[in-house]
Amino acid sequence: MELLCIQSQEHPLLPQAELKAVIECEDIHADMDVVCEGLVILKNISEDNLCKYYKILTKRLGYTHEVHEMILKSSVETLEKDISSIDWHEYIDENFAVRVKRVNSQIDTVAFERKIGSLILENCDGIKVKLKKPKSLIRIAAFENQLYVAIERIKLNKKHFEETKPHKRPFFHPGSMSPKLARCMVNLSRVKEGQLLLDPFCGTGGILIEAGLIGCKVLGSDIYWKMKNGAAINLEHYGITDYRTFNIDVRELKMYEKVASVVTDPPYGKSTTTGGIEGDGIFKEFFISIYDNMRDDAYLCMASPHYVDLQPIADEVGFEIVEQYGIKMHRSLTRIISVIRKKLD
Ligand SMILES: C[S@@+](CC[C@H](N)C(=O)[O-])C[C@H]1O[C@@H](n2cnc3c(N)ncnc32)[C@H](O)[C@@H]1O
Repeated sequence: MELLCIQSQEHPLLPQAELKAVIECEDIHADMDVVCEGLVILKNISEDNLCKYYKILTKRLGYTHEVHEMILKSSVETLEKDISSIDWHEYIDENFAVRVKRVNSQIDTVAFERKIGSLILENCDGIKVKLKKPKSLIRIAAFENQLYVAIERIKLNKKHFEETKPHKRPFFHPGSMSPKLARCMVNLSRVKEGQLLLDPFCGTGGILIEAGLIGCKVLGSDIYWKMKNGAAINLEHYGITDYRTFNIDVRELKMYEKVASVVTDPPYGKSTTTGGIEGDGIFKEFFISIYDNMRDDAYLCMASPHYVDLQPIADEVGFEIVEQYGIKMHRSLTRIISVIRKKLD
């Protein structure tokens, strides 16, 4: 069986990297076929695993908008014949709607939605079209002249990423990244539900919120007492109870238990305070102190500005950089997202 993932196109690589990381850490047995940017098919999933995987993906992913169970692959030329070959009673209960999503295709979406809706009605008795809140949503993704026909079994809650935006949290301070990027970074760290995740520069807790929402136990620390308290207020607001926050300078960090994941956005730039650490020195101090707080199999996912070269610091401390992605913020700043782990011989 197959799952069709419709992804964000706001970055060419991060949505696929995030999906790959979740497949890896959740031990999902599937082959990933990237049709194009924005469209990925997970193939060769056993029927027994489909529902479990579907739930994991819709719960975790940030840069994937929708996940659907694939019904058939068709093309503009063969669509009519292919739609008629399906027993739609297997998929549609009482009423349905068809929605077409174009990904690099010229087809007329409205005309296709009507055409496919009529074809399904002709081939299935006792059902009706219902455009608002249908019981069954048939989703068609069109890429060039290929059509991927699928059904939505579980809705991915995108509203949540609106509700956790920095200005909607009870404690606000500028400089918190978007919830989707925070979620993506949590996923890139390959952490699993129930495991311990640490953000040693937690600020208002944006990363901790996303990790808490997928079921991690979260630890946050910040040099400022006000931030430590603010992060706790925000975590409580989103119903996250399995957390602890500390008021510690990163150089003094000594956790009572080694963590499975570190996800963080260290301070940089002239306007940010680093507790008196000069220039880019914060990155080296951070690498040195975090090393002993991480399990040997833990991943660190962090953001940094393009002008800081993490490679020599990683080499010196004993880390290896596994993946890196650039996000252009404006003309003079690219944010680098790095996935790092201990180099073990
Ligand atoms: C870029 S902000 C993190 C933003 C955070 N991800 C959020 O959602 O709000 C960096 C944080 O590092 C904290 N910080 C600066 N120097 C520090 C140090 N030496 N040790 C620990 N925290 C420090 C700052 O107080 C700030 O809250």
